Amino acid sequence: MDSLPDFPWDSLAPYKERASSHAGGLVDLSVGTPVDPTPDVVRSALAAAADAHGYPQTWGTPALREAVAAWFARRRGVPDVNPDGVLPTIGSKELVAWLPTLLGAGPGDVVAYPAVAYPTYDVGARLAGASPRPMASLTALGPMTAATTPKLLWVNSPSNPTGQVLGHEHLAKVVRWARQHGVIVASDECYAELDWRDGAGGSTSGLPVPGAVPSILDPRVCGGSHDGLLAVYSLSKQSSMAGYRAAFVAGDPALVGRLLEIRKHAGMMVPWPVQQAMLAALTDDTHVAEQRVRYGIRRGHLRSALEHAGYCIDHSDAGLYLWVTRGGVEGAGAGSCWTILEEMADLGILVAPGSFYGVAGGRHVRIALTATDERIGAAVHRLTNVAAEHS
Ligand SMILES: Cc1ncc(COP(=O)(O)O)c(C=O)c1O
Repeated sequence: MDSLPDFPWDSLAPYKERASSHAGGLVDLSVGTPVDPTPDVVRSALAAAADAHGYPQTWGTPALREAVAAWFARRRGVPDVNPDGVLPTIGSKELVAWLPTLLGAGPGDVVAYPAVAYPTYDVGARLAGASPRPMASLTALGPMTAATTPKLLWVNSPSNPTGQVLGHEHLAKVVRWARQHGVIVASDECYAELDWRDGAGGSTSGLPVPGAVPSILDPRVCGGSHDGLLAVYSLSKQSSMAGYRAAFVAGDPALVGRLLEIRKHAGMMVPWPVQQAMLAALTDDTHVAEQRVRYGIRRGHLRSALEHAGYCIDHSDAGLYLWVTRGGVEGAGAGSCWTILEEMADLGILVAPGSFYGVAGGRHVRIALTATDERIGAAVHRLTNVAAEHS
């Protein structure tokens, strides 16, 4: 196995200390951990399932797998998910970290993922002993040979950290390319309900129009066949369930069957009360729409305060983060993410350096929307004062 990178968050300690010394206290917008209470509908389902004397099914109960398929049809514009191709996971981070291993990748295999990306795609390649291959685009992978063709390609839309959303035409091209070269595509889609583009959230449910953020399993993307495709989804963010570890993978039943076989042997199963809580979360759209409104308000305030204070916001069309730079990414005004980190720390605000997400992220910081209204208000106030001082 390639050695694992240092755990990046540890390097933020000096900035955290500096930010914590602010008279108004720390505003931590670094790690995107949900802060709002888990909805009652989810907590009641968990409590009602507290008697869990027997082992849970690794594959998940048929009711849960059917609820996932129904959710894809109702919320994602994917009418044809086969419940046999659904598998609950213990949060999605573990699946991201172990997927290459579970798919049999090893030394000599390539695992490709976006150049600016959630760091666990890289970790997963290393855990398998495979070669991690960040890529700015498919063409950047160069001509395909036996040695360079990835075994697995990750896509992530909406992206963490950039908030970029990939349209169905783009994803369809990726799927065509992958099928041509025999590459498995795993698509990490956990921010799909947090679409902030104009008109999103305008449907009667208060949520985006199904398919507005296309899934890899969307018929427009995959032509109605889920062969070679996996969609990865998490309830951590949309249902404030990060502490439950509740997620799932869905798509090609043959691939899911391979994962299931190993996970059964390895005891990688979602606890029964969590499975019941997932079922409740997946059949209730109201709490997701309510949570979306909370994040949308925080995002609006933070976004305008940052812009008034002279920062530029790139992409950030969806998801839980603002992808922020100062003076653009090129030319004389462009600075390093660490300079922005220092400026923010002086305001008592802790943010994440873009370099955590790849070399290409080195001029951005990622600012999470996951803080209480009170803490977001404090950040907005401080940024507004800075803007006033400079005007
Ligand atoms: C892109 C992406 N994938 C996966 C995860 C992991 O989510 P969880 O393990 O909470 O399901 C996150 C969490 O921040 C993420 O941003």
